[in-house]
Formats: sequence, C-alpha cells, structure tokens
Amino acid sequence: MNKQKHALVTGGCGFIGQSIVDYLIKSNYNVTVIDDFSTSYPMQERPHLEIIEEDVILHTRLSKPIDIIFHLASLVGMDLCYKNNRRTYDVMTLGARRILSLYPDVPKVFFSSSCVYGLDYSTPVDENLEISKKQVMDYDQNQYGYATGKWQMEKDIIAASPNNHKSIIIRPFNVIGKNQSGTYGMVVPKFIKAARHNLPITVHGSGNQLRCFAHVDDFTINLFKLIDNPQSWRSDNMIYNIGSPNPIGIKDLAELVKLKTASTSPIKFEAYDDYYPGKKDVQVRIPNIKKAEQLIGKMTWRSISRSIDSILIHENETVSV
Ligand SMILES: NC(=O)c1ccc[n+]([C@@H]2O[C@H](COP(=O)([O-])OP(=O)(O)OC[C@H]3O[C@@H](n4cnc5c(N)ncnc54)[C@H](O)[C@@H]3O)[C@@H](O)[C@H]2O)c1
Repeated sequence: MNKQKHALVTGGCGFIGQSIVDYLIKSNYNVTVIDDFSTSYPMQERPHLEIIEEDVILHTRLSKPIDIIFHLASLVGMDLCYKNNRRTYDVMTLGARRILSLYPDVPKVFFSSSCVYGLDYSTPVDENLEISKKQVMDYDQNQYGYATGKWQMEKDIIAASPNNHKSIIIRPFNVIGKNQSGTYGMVVPKFIKAARHNLPITVHGSGNQLRCFAHVDDFTINLFKLIDNPQSWRSDNMIYNIGSPNPIGIKDLAELVKLKTASTSPIKFEAYDDYYPGKKDVQVRIPNIKKAEQLIGKMTWRSISRSIDSILIHENETVSV
C-alpha cells in the first residue's frame, strides 16, 4: 500500500489556503495547517486535517515526516497591510526564513504576489523582469511593507535554494471566490457587499485601472497542474505568475457587480490619495502566464462575469441579468 503523503500548509485557514487544503485532502493527503487565526476564516474539523494555532515566525518543526509545504501565512489586503507595514514585512521575511531553516529537505511552494512588480506598468508583466528594491520600496512608500516583504522573501528563497530542497515561488494575481472577505480591502467582495446593501460602491481613483481576477477554484487547479509537473521544479524555473490574463477596468467591475446584484447603489469616485495618502496606485496589472503554460498547456479561467455569478450563487443572492 502507498504511504499516505503529508502536507504542511501555513496560513491554511485563509481564503486561498482553504482551497489548497481541500484539494490536498481530496488528493489523499494528510494535512497539518498552522495559522495564527489573525485573519482566518472558520474552518471545519475533519478527518485527515490537523489545525495548529501558531505564529509562523515562532513555528517549531513538526516531528512527523512532511512531503511538501505550502507557505501562505501572510497579512493580506491593502487596508490591513497599509496600517501594519512593519508587521507585514516581518511575517513575510521571518516566516519564510523559519520555514526554509526548519525544513531544508522538504519541497516548498511559497506564495509571493504580483505586488513584487511594484509600480511597473509594463503589460503584461513577466517573471524575467528585473525588479529593484527601489521599485518595491516606491510601491510601499519607502517603508518595509507588503511588496518589499514579498520581494525580500523571494530573494531569501533563491539564496537558500542551493542548500534547500527545491522551492517554487508563485506570484498570484487577484484571486477571488466564495467566502472571501472585503474587510481588508479586497475589491470584489467589497463591491458585492456594498451592492447587496444598496450602499455606495466606492471606486478609488478614476476607475480606469485594469486588473485581472482569477477564480480560486481555477487558480488551485492550475497551481496543482504546475506543481505536479516535475519540470516546474527545475532550479532555473522557480518563479511563476499564476492568474487570469483577462483584464477589466475597476469602474466596469463596479457596474458589473451592480448589474448582477440588481442593486440601486450609486457608484462613487474618491481620490485615491484621500484613501491612501501619498500612495500611488498601479494603473495596469496583467500577468504574462506563458512560462507556466509552456509546462502545463493553456490554463483555463472563467470570466469575471462567471466568477461573480458563482460567488453570488454561493451567497444565495443571485439575480439573473
Ligand atoms: N488573494 C489574493 O488575491 C492574493 C494575491 C497575491 C498574493 N496572495 C498571497 O497568497 C497567500 C494567501 O492569501 P489569501 O488571500 O488566502 O489571504 P488570507 O488573509 O485569507 O490568508 C492568510 C492566512 O494567513 C494567516 N496568518 C497571517 N499571519 C500569520 C502568521 N504570522 N502566522 C500564521 N498564520 C498567519 C491568516 O490568519 C490567514 O488565515 C498570501 O501569502 C498572499 O500574500 C494572495
């Protein structure tokens, strides 16, 4: 009989983490999650899942053998990170270093972010772009914050890789789906919540900013296709963009959400600077996903319209349009 594999998922009670945990359990893994519950979502106890409340920075090595690690623990969301820049940076850098040093012999999948492209507006952004510390510091307004933390984390992983078992770095681009909270600034759940209550849907800036939204189920399927391909673990590969390449303007997104919820919400425009003083917004963020697609073939992504439908169906709030 095959030995049952064991995965460790840090931040596994979060939005994407739960999708990864589900996928692993369905794939016959035993899973241990560590999460400090700072921004977690309720998660049901079930067979093959163990949940440990712990700050990843203080994590102690599990005594059981681990076959793979998914490191997602992080502060996430503009509103949260902006107010807690230093803690955000520390969780990313110290957390990743902890995982690297405790499990040098285990394959690891690290979650970075499209934020490491800083304020780069080239379209679409690809993994070969050289990103300087100055670029991410500009994004974080010359503080150590989310983008700088992810950037430094990537550097640490690459530096550790000769002495560590193989690592993969994933740069997700705006993942959305059921149960995602808008509390920390995620735009789609924020818009849906406002629309459902017929409250103003607030767009920061002109609304012409372009973003690409990937449904979490599609994201997870594409992620595992990549991880399951041995070629993805070659040391010259390592970093992958994963996300939908299909952009939508934020004003159009607000209108789409309004239409789908049959809401009477007004769409209100607020200066970006009023909400995030001194911070610059990224105008265009579109991923180039060719590198991953060369390994796993064309990735499929449902449209933003279908993603919103599925969120609304889940909330039992769908209004046909
Ligand atoms: N959601 C997106 O669109 C997106 C985009 C780019 C990158 N990412 C990255 O993907 C990962 C998961 O994001 P998410 O959307 O699921 O966020 P999330 O906030 O839902 O999940 C993060 C989880 O980490 C936990 N956590 C935070 N600090 C911790 C600590 N010190 N120790 C242990 N656990 C801690 C939280 O309680 C939460 O459960 C993050 O690393 C994030 O930076 C997400």
